[in-house]
Amino acid sequence: MAPLERRVSPALEPDVNAALAYLNGQWLPLSEARVSVLDRGFLFADGAYEVLATYDGRLLGETEHLARLERSLGELKIRNPHSRAEWQAIFARLIREAGGGDLAVYLQVTRGAASGRSHAFPENITPTVVAYCSPLPSPSAQARAQGVAAITVPDPRWARCDIKSTSLLANVLLTQQAKEAGANEAILHRDGRVTEGSSSNVFIVQRGAVLTTPDSVEILPGITRNLLAQLRADGIDVIARGFSLDELRAADEIWITSTTREVLAVTTLDGKPIGNGNPGKIYARAYQLFQGLKRR
Ligand code: PDD
Repeated sequence: MAPLERRVSPALEPDVNAALAYLNGQWLPLSEARVSVLDRGFLFADGAYEVLATYDGRLLGETEHLARLERSLGELKIRNPHSRAEWQAIFARLIREAGGGDLAVYLQVTRGAASGRSHAFPENITPTVVAYCSPLPSPSAQARAQGVAAITVPDPRWARCDIKSTSLLANVLLTQQAKEAGANEAILHRDGRVTEGSSSNVFIVQRGAVLTTPDSVEILPGITRNLLAQLRADGIDVIARGFSLDELRAADEIWITSTTREVLAVTTLDGKPIGNGNPGKIYARAYQLFQGLKRR
């Protein structure tokens, strides 16, 4: 995949295992970072995570990501082990040691490791914290120019998709299903309504209006989606309104958004072209505006 507009971080190439990791207050190479097999992240996927992007070494939406982390941990009743200032100091060191550039910063907080396996929360447990950087896996130049393919799949997930939990088995299976169908994303639907992608939020353009599914327990409140919604003053007037699978199929344009894909056009859905089969005009404008936002 040819990277586009990526400022490569020399300190991270070619092996991310050599990158510095933060683990429970310690700094060490990622390849040496170890957690207990009794960690509830391992046993139960009992944890929350975030993925942030840096552009030229600067984080995009840091405050928004930290607010979402706080919310996820609150919903999971896991104590946030760090203040915002402490998180910011961790990110700053990871980014500095990685040499800046365009990076993905991954962080995960689990409920921690107990002395045995029991579903209910153990008492006096200390959360496990891990964070590290890797090169930002941006879409290829071809994906940018031509858009990508998506398939539609009934949404099989639980009723708390608003929590950015590490319990991602459904998302893993759905992404694999998309990949095996030669597609880049699975767009999910429940009772005929579109929810989101297996790892993205979904937008449609319908007669000039830009629609995205409103916040609910059925979707993750994506940071990229919310940043795009701020482009109202620039003429991209995003309306939080749900849409059906039929409306998706008939859309003039479909976009997906995520931290690693930014905003990306879907030009083929279940093997059929969307619009004229090329990224649309409103997508092109949104993409261009987003480039300004991330380098601001
Ligand atoms: N995933 N919906 C789901 C289910 C996601 O997994 C993601 C992102 C999004 C978009 O959220 P944001 O714009 O905040 O990245 C929506 C990340 C990138 C991941 O799991 O790697």
